[in-house]
Amino acid sequence: MTNLLHIDTSPRKEESYSRTLSREFLETWKNHHPNIEITYRDLGLNPIPYIDELWVTAKFTKPDHYTSDLADVIRLSDELIDEFLAADRYVISSPMYNLSIPAVFKSYIDHIVRPGRTFTVDAGSFKGLVTGKKILIITARGSDFRPESALAPIDFQEPYLKAIFNFIGITDIQFIHANGLRTERREQALAESKEAIRAIATSW
Ligand SMILES: Cc1cc2nc3c(=O)[nH]c(=O)nc-3n(C[C@H](O)[C@H](O)[C@H](O)COP(=O)(O)O)c2cc1C
Repeated sequence: MTNLLHIDTSPRKEESYSRTLSREFLETWKNHHPNIEITYRDLGLNPIPYIDELWVTAKFTKPDHYTSDLADVIRLSDELIDEFLAADRYVISSPMYNLSIPAVFKSYIDHIVRPGRTFTVDAGSFKGLVTGKKILIITARGSDFRPESALAPIDFQEPYLKAIFNFIGITDIQFIHANGLRTERREQALAESKEAIRAIATSW
C-alpha cells in the first residue's frame, strides 16, 4: 500500500493552474497504481494559522514539560506532522508568489519542521528524520523562470523548497514548473507540464 499526501496551496479554485495540474497527476497516477491511499490537504482553501509566541515556546519545550496552553497550541502541528509522516509520497502544487511560495505554504512548513519530530540536532549538526520518501512539486508561474531565461537567477521557489525538504531528510524531489502562464507561452507551458506529469505519473 502506497500512501500519498496531496497538498494544494493556491487560494484560487477552478481558475488555478497548479490545482488543475496536480489533479491531472492524481488522476493518471491512480489509474496506474491500484493499491494506494490518498490523503488530501487543501491549504489554499482551508488555511492554517500562523505560528505565534506561545507556539514558539512550545516548539522549544520538551513535551513532558508542556502546560495545558502549550499542549493546546502545538496540537495542530503534531496532527500535521503525523499526517505528513504517514505518507510515503507527496504531490504538492504551488503558485509562485513574489519569487517564492504562498504564505500559507510557508506557514505549513513552519508547522511541520520541528526538532525531535522531522529533524534532530546530532553533535551540533542537523539531521533530517523523514527518510525514504519522494516528493513531486508542481508549480505555476506567471512569468518564465526556465533555466535559460533572464529571471532564472531570482527563482527562490525551487531552491527554497529543495533546501527545506532536504533539511528534514527528503532527497528524492522532482519539480514540474509551468512557466509563463501569464504570457503567450501559456498553452505550450500547460501542454509541456501535462506531458511531464503523465510521464512521472506512470513511472513514479
Ligand atoms: C500575490 C501574487 C504574486 C505573484 N508573484 C509572481 C512571481 O513572483 N512570479 C511569477 O512568475 N508569477 C507570479 N504571480 C503569478 C502566479 O504565479 C500565476 O498567476 C499562477 O498561475 C498562480 O497559480 P494558480 O494558477 O495555481 O493560482 C503572482 C500572483 C500573485 C497573485
